[in-house]
Amino acid sequence: MWEIQASTLKEDIVCAETSAPPTAMVVFGASGDLAGRKLLPSLMQIFQRQLLDDRFYLLGAGRKKLSDQQFSEITQQSINVPAKDSESFLKKVYYVSGDYADLTFYENIKTRLSELDQKHEVAGSHIFYLAVPPFLYTTIVEQLGWADLSCPHKPAYSAPPRLVVEKPFGRDLQSAVELDNKIHRCFDESQIYRIDHYLGKETVQNILMFRFANAVFEPLWNRNYIDHVQITIAESLGIEHRGSYYDKAGAMRDMFQNHMLQMLALAAMEPPSSFNADSIRDEKVKLLRSIRPLTAQGSQPGEENIIRGQYVPSVINSEEAVGYRDEPGVNSDSKTETFVAAKLFIDNWRWKDVPFYLRTGKRLTCKDTEIAITFKKVPHSMFASLGMDDMAANILVLQIQPEEAITLSFQAKRPGSKLCMSTLNMNFRYRDVFGVDSPGAYQRLLLDCMLGDQTLFTRTDDVKASWRLLTPILQAWQKDESVPYQYPAGSESFPEADRLIESDGRKWRKLSVI
Ligand code: BG6
Repeated sequence: MWEIQASTLKEDIVCAETSAPPTAMVVFGASGDLAGRKLLPSLMQIFQRQLLDDRFYLLGAGRKKLSDQQFSEITQQSINVPAKDSESFLKKVYYVSGDYADLTFYENIKTRLSELDQKHEVAGSHIFYLAVPPFLYTTIVEQLGWADLSCPHKPAYSAPPRLVVEKPFGRDLQSAVELDNKIHRCFDESQIYRIDHYLGKETVQNILMFRFANAVFEPLWNRNYIDHVQITIAESLGIEHRGSYYDKAGAMRDMFQNHMLQMLALAAMEPPSSFNADSIRDEKVKLLRSIRPLTAQGSQPGEENIIRGQYVPSVINSEEAVGYRDEPGVNSDSKTETFVAAKLFIDNWRWKDVPFYLRTGKRLTCKDTEIAITFKKVPHSMFASLGMDDMAANILVLQIQPEEAITLSFQAKRPGSKLCMSTLNMNFRYRDVFGVDSPGAYQRLLLDCMLGDQTLFTRTDDVKASWRLLTPILQAWQKDESVPYQYPAGSESFPEADRLIESDGRKWRKLSVI
């Protein structure tokens, strides 16, 4: 049996970590980018943290013809640890090649699995990870079904097979429903793990602890005390080498439908009754369904509450000389958005009429991911006679990246003069307190999948609720002849994005690292 390490280290520190049960992980696309950058290094790190069972093994699968030895060498290059430390991990690594559309490939996988299950004493606990482009999802899933590898009820198996699907899950509501229906023919919902890697980030998970393990914040977390909320995922990077994927996706499908809406759901949902997958996912779905429909174009210019932008070369900064349309793999007249900003309302008792301003974009000034809660200002200033009648509001910032931190700003007296007040920040930086970097998101998600814990994975109704909200906007943008608003690469914002919030008398928070 595997071990549950639960310890109360000091009176007030409660930690729980469970190591993975014996598992075989089959990674489709094993020699590809995602596997090399995220999956293989994360598995190695889980192994180094001694959370991977001794009997675990990895079967890489892909089109490229590789021997076990060659794949082991690729793995060694990806995991970036000295060879002496990876030796025992690499003994668990195998490879099988074939054509994704050919049933023989899956018959070979099946044969390999049964040999390796015996060798490693795994008893049929199989995870199939789709680290491949989305157009291959249904082909692979259907073939797994034909090869009888998806069947949930094999008595000899210690756990039903699991399927891990990367985002984007569909391109819009209809394609997500179709994909879901096809997957459901072979896999039951309890076997499906839809990944949104933001949910694996420590600080995103901390939203739950912060809100629901402290009595002080939740009573204020509503329309009576909160003026507005801003959620930002800004990236300084562009699309790197992913032009051909990104040009078909855009910021809405790549970031907004998933990472942005998941952060919104965690920040705004009602308290779940317990820390289990369905209680939490029920509340997230309810929240997503309460978002008021968006408008891509108003009857008057400036009436829209969601806008899109695209970066163009900067005329000021020569380092930002490449515009989106000049990127490799991108159409020279592309209308794909690299920036989305929206003003959302959540129509429920807690949030009625509180605006949520969301923005995400590539090639902005810096990387900055945060949720900022701006509270209402004091209702009356007793300092008005001294010229202080408009005091700054308290702002609580949950910074997700690049620094993991929580900051609360408040007004305080400065020493010296009879009355001198300024805004101060109370800061909590993870790195200062815990002294280590948080484990990467994929470690958490891979471990949870091996443990059969679906809490941090998106459920079918969650994905459909987000597409239901955004599909009308995507359709309107597709019909729209006009191009997205332009912003110079490396800039902080642009006039149309500013207008979205400034027309309400508010401002975007400055992009910066705390
Ligand atoms: C991915 C997107 O899901 O998230 C990328 O496809 C984006 O375009 C990335 O750059 C951002 O993730 P992170 O963890 O670096 O914020």
